[in-house]
Amino acid sequence: MKAVCWQGTNKVEVETVPDPKILNPRDAIVKITSTAICGSDLHLYDGYNPTMKPGDILGHEFMGEIVELGRGIQNKHLQIGDRVVVPFTIACGGCFFCQKQLWSLCDNSNPNSWMAEIPLGHSPSGLFGYSHLTGGYAGGQAQYARVPFADVGLFKVPNELTDEQLLFLTDIFPTGYMAAENCNIEPGDTVAVWGCGPVGQFAIRSAYLLGAERVIAIDLVAERLQMAKDGGAEVLNIAEIEVGEALREMTGGRGPDSVIDAVGMEAHGFGLEGFYDQVKQAVRLETDRPSVLRQAIVACRKGGTVSVPGVYTGLVDKIPMGAFMNKGLTMKTGQTHVHRYLRPLTELIQKGEIDPSFLITHELPIDRAPHAYEIFKHKQDNCIKVVLKPHQVA
Ligand SMILES: NC(=O)c1ccc[n+]([C@@H]2O[C@H](COP(=O)([O-])OP(=O)(O)OC[C@H]3O[C@@H](n4cnc5c(N)ncnc54)[C@H](O)[C@@H]3O)[C@@H](O)[C@H]2O)c1
Ligand SMILES: [Zn+2]
Ligand SMILES: [Zn+2]
Repeated sequence: MKAVCWQGTNKVEVETVPDPKILNPRDAIVKITSTAICGSDLHLYDGYNPTMKPGDILGHEFMGEIVELGRGIQNKHLQIGDRVVVPFTIACGGCFFCQKQLWSLCDNSNPNSWMAEIPLGHSPSGLFGYSHLTGGYAGGQAQYARVPFADVGLFKVPNELTDEQLLFLTDIFPTGYMAAENCNIEPGDTVAVWGCGPVGQFAIRSAYLLGAERVIAIDLVAERLQMAKDGGAEVLNIAEIEVGEALREMTGGRGPDSVIDAVGMEAHGFGLEGFYDQVKQAVRLETDRPSVLRQAIVACRKGGTVSVPGVYTGLVDKIPMGAFMNKGLTMKTGQTHVHRYLRPLTELIQKGEIDPSFLITHELPIDRAPHAYEIFKHKQDNCIKVVLKPHQVA
């Protein structure tokens, strides 16, 4: 089959690799009809994960059709031919954490948990296509994928909805939704969202679905700010104004009730602070560039919530802990508990309350993946989200 393989920093190739096989009784094989590139894939593309190996198959946002089922899941609710979406987090369904619906913290799905325990203390769940630290699972930017614990993860989707409407249930729609839910929004609330990439876009729309009165969105890319505006947000271009000051002014001096960092470890920095993070990261004294997190903590109103869907991998520097403590803030974060959101968010799509396909700017055959990574990374050709079609001929 064809698959998108990581070959080193800034290098992916579409290669012919062996088809996946059932390895365990609870596995399924899915023939992939649509798959997407995520901001999280860019952290791997940009070379920030030392546990990637050349040849690793990328991709954690994918859906398709069941073509094979392990004997451990036969006679249950899944059947060959079912159309399904696949959560990017792999969860066993039975452990302490799965029982608490903390799916992205599953204790049984990362065979390399020892690797994660060194920097993190404990391991999160296994993730598709996301380095050896989270299990070394082959990803879904491919024609087929093996899905472990398929009886827990695979979610049958309604036939009347298109792949383009359903695909983002695998990650970014639940991620934006959980980011907003973590804000504990109350009527009248103002939510500020840093980052108008795919996650930010869903966070904006989810904040409104959950009752926010105002959403203020922050980025530096014109077409992303425009898409945020189309979603009902007031927008600030961080390249043009001092965001902290603007947020104060817009909220009568009080600050937003909650703030969402939908940017993460590769935030674009400005001035001396930006230079400081670039240098520290280059000499490996800091793994991540947290300029958005710093700004969000300082901007948040007293007693407010800092919600962090943006990915961080290791150590950050100069976090304003004094502001965090003295203002009595709460932080909520994590890889998304995708399984929890599949049914309720599918229902929102069915009811027409949101149509996630608004996000797609590019749809390409899988052979164009190297080009797709480049335009997504450099925000060329107004690229906001790419969907790849694994079985379409270039
Ligand atoms: N928690 C999870 O489970 C989860 C799931 C998916 C993605 N993520 C993470 O969410 C983050 C966003 O993902 P995405 O797909 O939207 O990525 P993306 O790279 O497309 O979007 C990031 C956006 O942030 C903007 N940005 C950069 N620096 C900024 C700054 N200083 N201020 C304001 N905006 C700034 C960029 O212009 C870009 O539009 C990534 O870190 C990704 O890894 C987390
Ligand atoms: Zn993703
Ligand atoms: Zn589990």
